[in-house]
Amino acid sequence: MAPSHDAPVIYPGSFDPMTNGHLDVARRAARTFPHVVVAVVANPNKRPMFSAHARVAMLRDACSGLSNVEVASFDGLLVDFVRQQGARLIVKGLRIVADFEGEFTMALINRKLAGNVDTMFLPASVEYAYVSSSSVREIFALGGDVSDFVPPSVLRAMADLRRDVG
Ligand code: PNS
Repeated sequence: MAPSHDAPVIYPGSFDPMTNGHLDVARRAARTFPHVVVAVVANPNKRPMFSAHARVAMLRDACSGLSNVEVASFDGLLVDFVRQQGARLIVKGLRIVADFEGEFTMALINRKLAGNVDTMFLPASVEYAYVSSSSVREIFALGGDVSDFVPPSVLRAMADLRRDVG
């Protein structure tokens, strides 16, 4: 069965927090596909720095200029969410060679779980190829400046967190 023209593509992730690299991938996916759903995993393996609600809010703010991008959260298997959305395609960013093994494995597992769901990789833009959520979290935890790495909505949320934690 051919995919429906209004079927979205799904751009999933933990986005804890989202980075300028994530925003770049969302922007480029939105230039290529008519409808992109950024899918925030509600309960990632590790305890997240930000709640699913907060991660969705930051993404919505950062993607507000992209009219064909929506942001949702999901629980459970990604392929189940993909099917619920009537989608067939997962889009993921690929930064450095070290990403490849995990991403390739996930793509194969997802295709095994749902034979009609495929994955496409967008190579990170070179200026973001070294930026990761985990390095942003570490720089922030150690009191460093992350303003070059994350959109303003994330910077504000991080400043609030710092204020709340004291
Ligand atoms: O940004 P991340 O942390 O690389 O995203 C990982 C994500 C959310 C895509 C992955 O953890 C995921 O798909 N989680 C949902 C659970 C699932 O479907 N697992 C089976 C595939 S390995």
